[in-house]
Amino acid sequence: DSVLVHSPATLSNLGCGFDVFGLALAEPYDIIRLTRSDKPGIRIQHHDPYNLPTDPLHNVAGVALLALLKQVPEAVGFELEITKGIKPGSGVGSSAASAAGAVVAANALLGNRFSKMQLVDFAMEGEAVASGARHADNIAPAIFGGFTVVRALEPVIDIIALPAPPLWVAVVHPQIEVKTSDSRKVLPATVPLGLAVRQWANVAGLVSGFLLADYDLIGRSLDDYIVEPARLPLIPGLAEARMRALAAGAIGGGISGSGPSIFMLNRTEATAQAVGEAMGSVFTELKIECNVYVGPV
Ligand code: HSE
Repeated sequence: DSVLVHSPATLSNLGCGFDVFGLALAEPYDIIRLTRSDKPGIRIQHHDPYNLPTDPLHNVAGVALLALLKQVPEAVGFELEITKGIKPGSGVGSSAASAAGAVVAANALLGNRFSKMQLVDFAMEGEAVASGARHADNIAPAIFGGFTVVRALEPVIDIIALPAPPLWVAVVHPQIEVKTSDSRKVLPATVPLGLAVRQWANVAGLVSGFLLADYDLIGRSLDDYIVEPARLPLIPGLAEARMRALAAGAIGGGISGSGPSIFMLNRTEATAQAVGEAMGSVFTELKIECNVYVGPV
């Protein structure tokens, strides 16, 4: 018994929706092969150059599978093979993709006994290992697809999955290290009411924009007044990259997850290509190496 799962990269936060919004990308993706075994325990093999841990207790997919197995009464083991298509640390949900893919594969091998909400719960255990915080804004779109709203994690997980209108994403990944745990430490503990009002107005605007497929409304609503200003000093070139991206025709964008990648949403592939190049030029001028990814949602 063996299954193969493609688990996609995801954008989390999506501008104003810190820890709440997520968007699944069509590419890149991790390839997860999971084989059921009568021998209890989890054995992990990596087919990629990233030297990720193979001890299940220190591997995001291993921890997620262990959380799932706690709810399985029979003696089951797994052979897990991971081929990372998503570069770790690139800010497009690399750890979430592996954790989500592993539990989706396990569920298929176990007769689909768990709901998607339960799978999110298991995968979040893995994500907590990687980032130090239980958040589902990358896990949710990896498991549900499309545009997702994590409305609540406590007392019960409540996720809303909405379709996304046709969009092309441009992501630039500068080779600077920004750890999620560090970029959460810089966040303000309290928020002035006026800013909070502007932020939740944008949150409502962005959801409406997705539902109405109104690209202009999406563009007007992406801005994040609370988290991005605090993280701005961690990502040199962000302000300039945004300016050039908008000049090249992007709808709007911001920091991808906790960074250092920057994403921009676009109407067409051609615009996304131009926007990717425009953002890349900023980092080339700053003498910071970067990778640019362009792909459909
Ligand atoms: N919502 C999380 C953050 C995503 O911004 O810290 C981390 O990938």
